[in-house]
Amino acid sequence: MASVNRSSDIVIFGALGDLAQRKLIPALFQLDSAALLGQDTRIIGVARATQNSDAFRRRCQESLTQRIKPDELDAAALQRFLARIEYCIINFTDAEGYHSLKTILDISAERARIFYYATPASLYGAISRNLTKGDCINTNSCVVLEKPIGHNLRSSNEVNDQVAEYFDEAQIYRIDHYLGKETVQNLIALRFANPLFGSQWNQSHISHVEITVAEKVGIEGRWGYFDQAGQMRDMVQNHLLQLLCLTAMDPPDDLSADMIRNEKVKVLKALRPISAAMCNTHVVRGRYTKGLVEGNPVPGYMEEEGANPNSHTETFVAIKAEINNWRWAGVPFYLRTGKRLPEKLSQITIHFKPQPHFIFDESQRHLAQNKLIIRLQPEEGISLQILNKDHGLNKGMHLRSEALNLNFSQSFEQNRVPDAYERLLLKVMQGNQYLFVRRDEVEHAWTWCDQLMQHWHNENKPPLAYAAGSWGPKAADLMLIKDGNCWYEDQ
Ligand code: BG6
Repeated sequence: MASVNRSSDIVIFGALGDLAQRKLIPALFQLDSAALLGQDTRIIGVARATQNSDAFRRRCQESLTQRIKPDELDAAALQRFLARIEYCIINFTDAEGYHSLKTILDISAERARIFYYATPASLYGAISRNLTKGDCINTNSCVVLEKPIGHNLRSSNEVNDQVAEYFDEAQIYRIDHYLGKETVQNLIALRFANPLFGSQWNQSHISHVEITVAEKVGIEGRWGYFDQAGQMRDMVQNHLLQLLCLTAMDPPDDLSADMIRNEKVKVLKALRPISAAMCNTHVVRGRYTKGLVEGNPVPGYMEEEGANPNSHTETFVAIKAEINNWRWAGVPFYLRTGKRLPEKLSQITIHFKPQPHFIFDESQRHLAQNKLIIRLQPEEGISLQILNKDHGLNKGMHLRSEALNLNFSQSFEQNRVPDAYERLLLKVMQGNQYLFVRRDEVEHAWTWCDQLMQHWHNENKPPLAYAAGSWGPKAADLMLIKDGNCWYEDQ
């Protein structure tokens, strides 16, 4: 099979790290298996550890064996993939080492060079500078930056400024892996290809929107990183705000990267800032204590390995966000995300308004709202809750709520939903930035989050406790109950 994609040198900084081995190498393997890597594309792993290319290939092979199902790990495909891989020892902050990278890179001026920074953001500036000094940049080079970019607006600007000294915005691909998920993509198709939804997507027809990103896992031995970040920086500033933007944005003029990103920025700018007083009514911040997840006892956040007893870091956030524009005035967007919740679930639920006049039995009024559920994971799909008449001669006009279901893996006969990183890497190779976050998006997202986190900082209070395995602090339920609403799973 001939590939449609141009050949590239893909250089991964931090090649021995968790992201590279758990996500990037498997994603590149899957792209190769699907004949989506350019014919003589090469993958150059860069890290500090002293080892040769053979040892690095063995490491990649181990990761692939752990991560890819045996029936997808065809021996010939594996050998072809491993043959693309090389390794280069570099201390990222030492400019000297980059000369050895230069000797490995293909000399052609046109061949695409993709530099993937799978390292802490504090190194992005130094790597960019040293790549330039070491003459590793050609006319067809780009960089891929992993989140989190900075800790707040100021530090993210510092990182972005450092990278911008050496690369134009058109060469910078900022990853938010949620944008690579199949169903997130489908949100654009669902909203803008279906007139049925297009005409209903506003405050006249929608009462509220829920965005839940729940995880069963705790912090997985990442205390050092996580305690500095917390759920707000780790999940809300990026993934949840991106989902909110795609749900709420106006139709872009076309599908080009900048048209989509312009619309997302408009949503971020219209987000109502959360004042100190609103922190009590619009925000719930929690931290898990010990509990049971799927029947197994798990420790609380403060008992995790490496815990700092003075920590006030949150592992759960629920926010009632409001968008001050014509389309969404008066429609709450309830965002909720947490670690150690009962299940892994990412889902957007659109609650439509009830009919203006209800002619059925009053006892069934509570049923009378259509809901559109967009499941990002697991079991990617879309489901529309509609009301039917219950079947049977003796049922009268008794209503029943049922779902019209579109389950992607069943309807598209796919046995595998591609991982987000496969799609994102493919788009980088194709030079298409529409699934990547533009600098002004990052800035507006930080601006909104920073003011909220500043109130937490001023309050200096620990987050509310919730037992691992529950859906977060009770206050998160009360926040919706006060508005006459409830979270989807409570219905
Ligand atoms: C990452 C966060 O960005 O997303 C992690 O840093 C989180 O803390 C992960 O676990 C969740 O991603 P997914 O794709 O498993 O929902």
